[in-house]
Amino acid sequence: MAEAALFDTFARAPLRFVRGEGVWLVTESGERYLDFGAGVAVTSCGHAHPHLVGALKDQADKVWHLSNLYEIPDQERLARRLVDATFADKVFFTNSGAEALECAIKTARRYHYSKGHPEKFHIITFEGAFHGRTIATIAAGGQEKYLEGFGPKAQGFDQVPFGDLDALKAAITENTAAILIEPIQGEGGIRVVPKELLKELRALCDSHGLLLMFDEVQTGVGRTGKFFAHEWSGVAPDIMAVAKGIGGGFPFGACLATAEAASGMKPGVHGTTYGGNPLAMAVGNAVLDVVLGDGFLEHVRDVALVFRQGLAALKDRFPHVIEDIRGEGLMLGIKARVPAGELVTAMREEHILGVPAGDNVIRLLPPLVVTAEEAREGIARIERAAEKLHNEQLKKSA
Ligand SMILES: Cc1ncc(COP(=O)(O)O)c(C=O)c1O
Repeated sequence: MAEAALFDTFARAPLRFVRGEGVWLVTESGERYLDFGAGVAVTSCGHAHPHLVGALKDQADKVWHLSNLYEIPDQERLARRLVDATFADKVFFTNSGAEALECAIKTARRYHYSKGHPEKFHIITFEGAFHGRTIATIAAGGQEKYLEGFGPKAQGFDQVPFGDLDALKAAITENTAAILIEPIQGEGGIRVVPKELLKELRALCDSHGLLLMFDEVQTGVGRTGKFFAHEWSGVAPDIMAVAKGIGGGFPFGACLATAEAASGMKPGVHGTTYGGNPLAMAVGNAVLDVVLGDGFLEHVRDVALVFRQGLAALKDRFPHVIEDIRGEGLMLGIKARVPAGELVTAMREEHILGVPAGDNVIRLLPPLVVTAEEAREGIARIERAAEKLHNEQLKKSA
């Protein structure tokens, strides 16, 4: 039992994948699964994308690690490309999403501190949010199940109900530094924040001198058919956390900010050993070659349409199994009427992978390179899974 040596923190499915090819994962015994979880929205370019593999191998032959004591040209290049393609002027590279959020939180607090307002360190977040598993990010997420047993909740996070603008206004005090929100809640169950609400948040931040922070760890890097999901709303944040898709499977993240929002982050106030490591930067630049390449985001939007229509048809056919289809682009959620775990298992039996989320939702987050044909194949497999559960329900009620 090799697994017994691991922390018991994960409930793992009994599957061992040894190889990946595009949108497919292959098990030890050679069985092929459609990977519509993409390692929870990570393998944006699919498994073993030749351009990413080539970039990583080339870099591996040159130098693996340098430390931020020295200049790292590929780090500067990737930061410049991110700045050119977004609202941001400045980038700090991290190793994960939670660390990108840590940097975002520190940047916001430090901004107000450097303006002479150390009392402004509170950040308003939304019920159902997920921002990571560090001590600060579980406080930001505010979910009791992640906070329980880890000592006092880190100070300075105030949570309001999802989408409740009045509660949000009431929560702003002289201690408030920023508002932090995922444009689409991922772990929370693919809950899309209405564009109008994002606009209201921007206006509130501007009128109260607060910073607007977007967590685009799951929604970013082409997932919704724009480079970043907030672009659909026309609203830009002051600070943004990014990870997952930007590494295409190589673990790294980034905190992006305007020059003004980052103005408190002076030499020595923050740091990282591995963040911006040459291997990560080589892969990150290769991911941007793909995602910002001609026609790529258009491809995501086109395939997303095929997906959406197929899923909507399944909802009409199996209303006792599927209650609703949610999301944007290739960040889709099936709100189930049966327990979501049962649908995930039935899908797995059809050799298609999805990811459970809150609110009884199954996330479909395929690699962005998925073709219309592969999307249709996925729909056919989900259809068989839904049909099976539908028939079981009929039997139960007979
Ligand atoms: C929106 C969001 N923020 C932050 C995180 C944390 O990222 P990581 O697991 O890389 O620390 C996640 C991970 O699922 C996420 O979905």
